Amino acid sequence: MVTLITGSEGRLGTELKKVFPVALVPTLNELNITDRDSVFKYIEKNKPDIIIHAAAMTSAEGCKKNPEKAWQTNVEGTRTLLKSLKKINPDGYFIYISTAGVFKCDRGNYGEDDCPNPVNFYCLTKLCGEVVVQDFDNTLIVRTNFVPKGKWPHGKAFIDRFGTYLYTDDVAGAIKDVVVHKLTGIVHICGDKKLSMYDLAKLSDPKVEKITLKEHGGITLPKDMSLVTKIWHPYRLGGK
Ligand SMILES: NC(=O)c1ccc[n+]([C@@H]2O[C@H](COP(=O)([O-])OP(=O)(O)OC[C@H]3O[C@@H](n4cnc5c(N)ncnc54)[C@H](OP(=O)(O)O)[C@@H]3O)[C@@H](O)[C@H]2O)c1
Repeated sequence: MVTLITGSEGRLGTELKKVFPVALVPTLNELNITDRDSVFKYIEKNKPDIIIHAAAMTSAEGCKKNPEKAWQTNVEGTRTLLKSLKKINPDGYFIYISTAGVFKCDRGNYGEDDCPNPVNFYCLTKLCGEVVVQDFDNTLIVRTNFVPKGKWPHGKAFIDRFGTYLYTDDVAGAIKDVVVHKLTGIVHICGDKKLSMYDLAKLSDPKVEKITLKEHGGITLPKDMSLVTKIWHPYRLGGK
């Protein structure tokens, strides 16, 4: 079985490389998902059976400033990869990493079958990527929400943003679980506890300062990204 991981230099991709040590892990220069011809050539040459698609333009600010690039990367790039895979391997298995931010994020506790309604353009492109994926068989959409392990890097953390957060390596391990079980459709990979970002940050930086979304200003950010799962099981933050 040949597994291909896109976005392998990113936060999640770096952890995915550890749990899929023999996977193909091209850099952006080796596989730019917005370059249709080269994507098809790469897929035809390497013949993956499984693609774990973690490449994306992930900055909400960046997507707002450059919506065309965000669309080409997050939506059309996903379509190009899928079409290339299915052309050479109709039974190929495709896993798309999506976000809790596809929901309105006003009430939280969203299940797999709740209605999406994203609040910013980045989240809209991730939702449109999901719609592309749903047109193909043997695919899985993973909605999740993660932060890197280690000391909270920002100095401040929101007291009014919430999620069922996991660490990036928890999510990589959980992706391996669902891939082994060959889940298809939509699954939420989430933590078993809802936390504010501030409470999450305090775990690694007891001196972190409080901030509110109003004080932060700027682009509209999803507020309550907490997820539940009706078809899998939640995970413990830090695996403990
Ligand atoms: N971070 C979260 O909390 C979170 C939550 C839910 C879902 N997700 C999803 O999880 C996935 C991974 O997120 P992440 O936090 O690991 O993001 P990340 O650190 O920004 O990694 C994304 C990777 O994709 C690469 N990339 C961008 N454009 C590309 C292109 N045209 N062709 C090939 N590669 C390209 C980036 O390269 P450059 O850095 O060189 O541009 C980067 O290495 C994304 O699909 C994201 O939407 C993230």
